[in-house]
Amino acid sequence: MLEIENYAAKIGQLKKELNAVILAHNYQNPEIQDLADFVGDSLALSRAAAATDADLIVFCGVHFMAETAAILCPEKTVLIPDPQAGCSLASAINPEELIRWKSKHPEAVVVSYVNTSAEIKALSDYCCTSSNAVEITNSIPADKEILFLPDMFLGSYVAKQTSRKNMHIWPGECHVHAGMTSHDINKYLTDESDAELLIHPECGCTTSALYHYGEGDINKSCHVLSTEGMIRYASSSNSKKFIVATEIGILHRMKNQNPTKTFVPLKEDAICKYMKMITLEKVYQSLRNKVHVVNVPDKVRSSARLAIDRMLAV
Ligand code: 13P
Ligand code: SF4
Repeated sequence: MLEIENYAAKIGQLKKELNAVILAHNYQNPEIQDLADFVGDSLALSRAAAATDADLIVFCGVHFMAETAAILCPEKTVLIPDPQAGCSLASAINPEELIRWKSKHPEAVVVSYVNTSAEIKALSDYCCTSSNAVEITNSIPADKEILFLPDMFLGSYVAKQTSRKNMHIWPGECHVHAGMTSHDINKYLTDESDAELLIHPECGCTTSALYHYGEGDINKSCHVLSTEGMIRYASSSNSKKFIVATEIGILHRMKNQNPTKTFVPLKEDAICKYMKMITLEKVYQSLRNKVHVVNVPDKVRSSARLAIDRMLAV
């Protein structure tokens, strides 16, 4: 405990000296969330990065998120405390694969989920996050073919919500969310019928959950939401119990904001090892030594920025 307080004090001091801000994703370890200036989902973090007047951004999340901040804030220094904090979903497609895919569909509009590298964003027309993927897709003329990447579960969900038949979906997945399956939902149907179900659209169980909801097998409501959407919904709903289908780091804020409500993870072992690579010690070292700087080459940055700006405009 004393160690956490010590780090928090040292980090607070360095933050003042360097005019730094700490941004953290909803999946970060509790002690990182508690110390951050802002905690949120991918979209909210992009907006916070774009809006800050700090000189230095310490990004407590995975690499593509810090890269997005670097794309939006070229005049600021963006640091990631551990450069190995990657993302299995972002690694599901590389630039060569996308170039080949585009060449087979030369007229298609490319919509890339934010969980992609800067190079992939630079080859895309639109970026989207889990909070706005349906909206972004709906903003594209109905007769235009779409290449949606890299998450197949989010892609199928978006195709269903928008009733779009001309969407090609890349077969990528997040190892944490793909592991939540219809089997886990079936367990919930019998065990927890008094709870509301909150599902991240990257989950392998989204279609099954919506099917059971449509069939009336789920008594309470079922919502497909981004991590921030889940947190907002949990606070505004009158329900007392929620089954949460996403990475378990999100439970920290949910429980803090709603001490009288119960939150049950759909899967206790839904842990993103990349998100958990960020520790207090690494945040401290990052500020102290100004490491690890996230750089995006200018040419990549300006094309990637267009895709992100188109998303922020929608
Ligand atoms: P959110 O944008 O909903 O926070 O999701 C990011 C992510 O990496 C989910 O695995
Ligand atoms: Fe990537 Fe999955 Fe981790 Fe999210 S939970 S950062 S998609 S590996």
